[in-house]
Parts: sequence; structure tokens; C-alpha cells
Amino acid sequence: MSRIVKRAAAIAIAAATAAQAQAEDIKVGLLLPFSGVYAALGEEIEAGFRLGLDSFGADSGATFEILREDSEASPPVGLAKTRKLIMQDRVDVMAGVVSSGVLAAIRDVVDGAKVPLIVANAGNDEATGKACSPYITRISFSNAQLNRPMGKYLVDHGVTKVVTFAPDYAAGQQMMKAFGDAFVAAGGEIVAQEFTPFQKTQDFGPYLAKAKTSGAQAVYAFYAGSEAIAFVKQYDSFGMKEALPLYGPGFLNSQLYVGAQGAAAQGIVTALHYVPTIDNAANKAFVAAFTAQAGHLPSEYAVQGYDAARALVEAVKSGATDRESLAAALPRTSFDGPRGKTAIDPATNNIMQPIYVYDTVAGPDGPTQKVLAQLPVEVDPVNGCEMATLN
Ligand code: BEZ
Repeated sequence: MSRIVKRAAAIAIAAATAAQAQAEDIKVGLLLPFSGVYAALGEEIEAGFRLGLDSFGADSGATFEILREDSEASPPVGLAKTRKLIMQDRVDVMAGVVSSGVLAAIRDVVDGAKVPLIVANAGNDEATGKACSPYITRISFSNAQLNRPMGKYLVDHGVTKVVTFAPDYAAGQQMMKAFGDAFVAAGGEIVAQEFTPFQKTQDFGPYLAKAKTSGAQAVYAFYAGSEAIAFVKQYDSFGMKEALPLYGPGFLNSQLYVGAQGAAAQGIVTALHYVPTIDNAANKAFVAAFTAQAGHLPSEYAVQGYDAARALVEAVKSGATDRESLAAALPRTSFDGPRGKTAIDPATNNIMQPIYVYDTVAGPDGPTQKVLAQLPVEVDPVNGCEMATLN
């Protein structure tokens, strides 16, 4: 080898080593609820996220260090933990966030500090609407995205009078508004709306008694985590299901806790962006890998964590190494994964994805999901988002 060729080879190796050294350690601040009514959701998203890093990160040339913080699904706690992760721990990227209230509370801090955030649950419409940010990429769903299509779906299926139920905070209010607007536009009538105190309601009896005599044909409800388990069980034990069929977004009877709800969950028709029974090759591989690792079937929360990790790894593989380059690369993520084809809308940084309407039926190992319809991908309106450009 001539001296010139040897020197060129040495420079190339040095450059490759430098690039690898730069990309070597990506510090990820994982902000999730590990206590409170959404604790199980946090654990599930973390399990999916770790599986995603293991599955896609091996050949990325990077190592990922996870710093995990408990938001308790409380906006002030989530804000304090975000400040710690950004200012004290100096994370390169944040992921997680389950509650729409926490997302609203931390939005200005991540945007101001220019730290990319991959939202792995919280559906707050404003975060990809009037409060959008080039530092926020949502890989989960928006509150409107899941509930808007159900307005027309119910009317098309002969349900025209409902009572709605939701916890009284941003997610409950936004989901019921999106559903209600679409339902009324399609010719439906909202007979009554119940917003129950979030994280505080254990007895739904008094609200259910009112719904029973309201003249409605059905109930449309959003609850998640331990509130969903309690609501669905009490709905059944009050004998409501026969008189007033129950509908809602599928957080109500998620795969994560449908086993705890048992027969009480059967016959509830709901909509989600992911159920473990979706029939495609990527989902079969994901279900097998997640079940082997976690010991149970994956839920929508698991896939959101898994896809958040995949988006992060893809961003790193495209050459991103720091806060600014990660923020630029994350919205360009697109893949064919367990939930079908997904991509990020550049106008809002919200995910675009198919929605599945399904019935919960008895299966050999407990309740399972029978997909009734796959609704086409519907892009959210920009809702006042004026996406700033990164400098
Ligand atoms: C939310 O607060 O955005 C949310 C929480 C649990 C499930 C779905 C949405």
C-alpha cells in the first residue's frame, strides 16, 4: 500500500471512529407514571421501549442510557422531573409522557430548552395543534384522532342518543369533544355528559344510576388504567351493558387490563390504533418477542414504547447525535410496523395511522379483540399549529 493510500485509510478509520464515539452514548430521559392510576401504563411503555432498543438498536453504533423518572401522572411532578432530566442529567432526548395534563405542563420547558421529546402516549391535541413544537414528535395518537371517527361509526350503526363519561382533565375533555362534534354532525344527540374527578373516583354508581334513566341508547366513555378496570366492572355489575351498550376509545378495555376486567369487558365496541390481533407479519414478530420478554400479550401502550424506540434508533442511524439533530430527524420517521404503515405529518409532527374498531369477545385465554373495521388514515387538522423551523 502506498503512503498516500495508507494515510487515506487511516483518516477514514479515524473519521468512522469519531462518528461512532459521537453517537456512542445517547442519554434518554424516560418520563412515565410508575405510580398512581396510570402506573401499569408506564411499566408497559417502558417494556416496549426497551424491547424496541434491543430489537433495532444493536447495529446503530450507539448505546442508549435510560434515566427513568416517575411523573405520577401529575403535571407539577412531571414538570419538576422534566427540569431535572434536562438541566441536571443533561439528557439528549426525552421519551414517554402518558397524561395529556403532564404533556401540557412540560411543553414550554422542552421547547425552550430545545430538547426533542418523543411522545409515547399522551394524546393532548394542542401539543400537535396550537402548542406544536419542532421538538415534539408524537408516535402514539391524538385524542381527536381516535374519537372523531367513532362519532360517525355509532350513527352509521344506529346509535343516535348517548351519555358520555370521562375523567375531568384534558384528555377526557378533548376526547369527548372530538367524539361529540362528529356524533352531532352525523345526526346524533348527546343526552348528558359526566366528567368524573380524575384520580379520585372509585365509585361510579351515582353517575351510572343517572345514565340508566337518561333516555340514552348507549354510553360512550374514556377511562384508562385502574379507572378503566373499575368503570367497566361496575358498569357490568350494575346491569348496564344489556340496556345501554358501551362504546369508547379502546383504552377502556385495553389488552393490558382486559384480563382483570374478564367477562365484564365482553361486547364493548371500541377503537384504537393497535390491538394484538392485527394480522400482519411485523405484528406477529412483535407479539412473539414482547410476549417472550414480558410474559403477556402487548397492548397499545407497549407498541407505542416499541415504536418510540424504533423512531429514536432510526434517527440515530440517519446520523443524528445530539439534541438538535435528533429533533430534526425524529419527524422524518416512517415505517411499516405492528400497527401497519405509520408516518409523521410534517405540518404538526403527529402520527398518521390506521384506526381499528373492534369488539371484545371471549377467547381461549380470556377476552380478545375481534377487528370489525379498519378505518382509513385520517390526518388531523392543523388546529392552529404553525410549525417553527429548527435553526
Ligand atoms: C392522556 O392523558 O392523554 C391519556 C392517558 C391514558 C390513555 C390515553 C390517553
